[in-house]
Amino acid sequence: MSQREQWSSKLGFILAAAGSAIGLGAIWKFPYIAGQNGGGAFFLIFILFTLLLGLPLLLAEFVIGRSTQANAINSYKKIAPGSKWHWIGVLGMVSCFILLSFYSVIGGWIVAYLFKVVTGGLNHLTSNQYAEIFGSTISDPIISIIVQFLFILITIIVVARGVQNGIELASKFMMPALFILFIILVIRAVTLDGAMEGITFLLQPDFSKVTSKTVLEAMGQSFFTLSVGVSVMVTYSSYLPKNQSLPRSAFSIVGMNLAIVLLAGLAIFPAVFAFGLKPDAGPVLLFNVLPTVFSHLPFGMFFFGAFLILFLFAALTSAFSMLEIIVSVISKNTAQRKKWSWIIGLAIFVFGVPSALSFGILGDVKLFDKTIFDLMDFMVSNVLMPLGSLLIAIFVPLKMKKSSLYEEIIKGSKLFKGLFNVWYFLLRFVAPLLIIAVMLDVLGVW
Ligand code: PFF
Repeated sequence: MSQREQWSSKLGFILAAAGSAIGLGAIWKFPYIAGQNGGGAFFLIFILFTLLLGLPLLLAEFVIGRSTQANAINSYKKIAPGSKWHWIGVLGMVSCFILLSFYSVIGGWIVAYLFKVVTGGLNHLTSNQYAEIFGSTISDPIISIIVQFLFILITIIVVARGVQNGIELASKFMMPALFILFIILVIRAVTLDGAMEGITFLLQPDFSKVTSKTVLEAMGQSFFTLSVGVSVMVTYSSYLPKNQSLPRSAFSIVGMNLAIVLLAGLAIFPAVFAFGLKPDAGPVLLFNVLPTVFSHLPFGMFFFGAFLILFLFAALTSAFSMLEIIVSVISKNTAQRKKWSWIIGLAIFVFGVPSALSFGILGDVKLFDKTIFDLMDFMVSNVLMPLGSLLIAIFVPLKMKKSSLYEEIIKGSKLFKGLFNVWYFLLRFVAPLLIIAVMLDVLGVW
């Protein structure tokens, strides 16, 4: 274990973990799920879940990873030898496999749009024309598979090179740039004629629209955007030196993530209403709306291209973490890391092809009234991630000593002494009960 790589700097870890967290979840998924679930009320419930569940669980994963300095399976084995708890890690690996298989479909869409911008295919169009072009691109089986492949290819190459070289470097410059571009975008969107309606939609809760499904989706979304429940954060924090404050990292990641969610919402919804589009358009929402907003900026297509590059990086840094957790368990050394990155990456690609085709030729194939893509997403976000989170919330207080948890939490900053008990209470009581309650509610138990 002494040979394990470590993050070269404190910032490196935060950026990489934030890179895993911030991605399609905040930028692409949040707006469309919020749009389908009535806006403001969903947003509020999402924030509550992020603070009550996501944040404590993120910290719990950090504690597991840093205290054991081991991968997603061995960390559980170290804490609870001879038990079955390491199945949490297996569950996480399976979740990440499925997750990357459909995540890469959307990543591919970014690649496809980028090609179109670069080749000048998007100049001077109306919002309907953007939607039409986009629709025909993603329903084309060859194009959608090629771009999905390209996205996975980049992921494989970076993960094969190792966690430090690849992941840290990519996160360092892109994230701040993404923030800046988002702020420009928001300023443009909220100053459009008719923007107010969109701002109200996002920020004014209408609880009459809340159903069990809304609550489940908000919970799933809070896990999804923070990458918790699948032991990715266990894996990342295992590369962390001992002297760093875990709560501080967790707070900054949650803060950045919520900021991006808010910025994405404020960039999208004012524009949706100003241009007379529909907030419940589903997965295509962001891709239909954004080019129109950019076309209302000077040098719009240039900025759109820049945005797509940064967006692609945000998606890739999340994708890296999904593949990394699987590869770090299976490979024993650097040579094996290369081999397994390719084998697993390609297997994920093959498994993801039906999801890519579900926006075109497989669009009518439905199970439980969902397309293949939607079903994969539902399974990961609303079943596997809550289940993994539930198990972690049970595991940590049960198998780790309260005193050693305390030591681990306050290391690097005594500031969090007072908050320890709040965290412990949320993790031990609130998280399990809330997750179980939401699940039972959806199953119609009460
Ligand atoms: N948090 C990522 C996003 O919001 O795009 C998605 C994700 C990455 C989920 C890694 C889970 C994970 F393990």
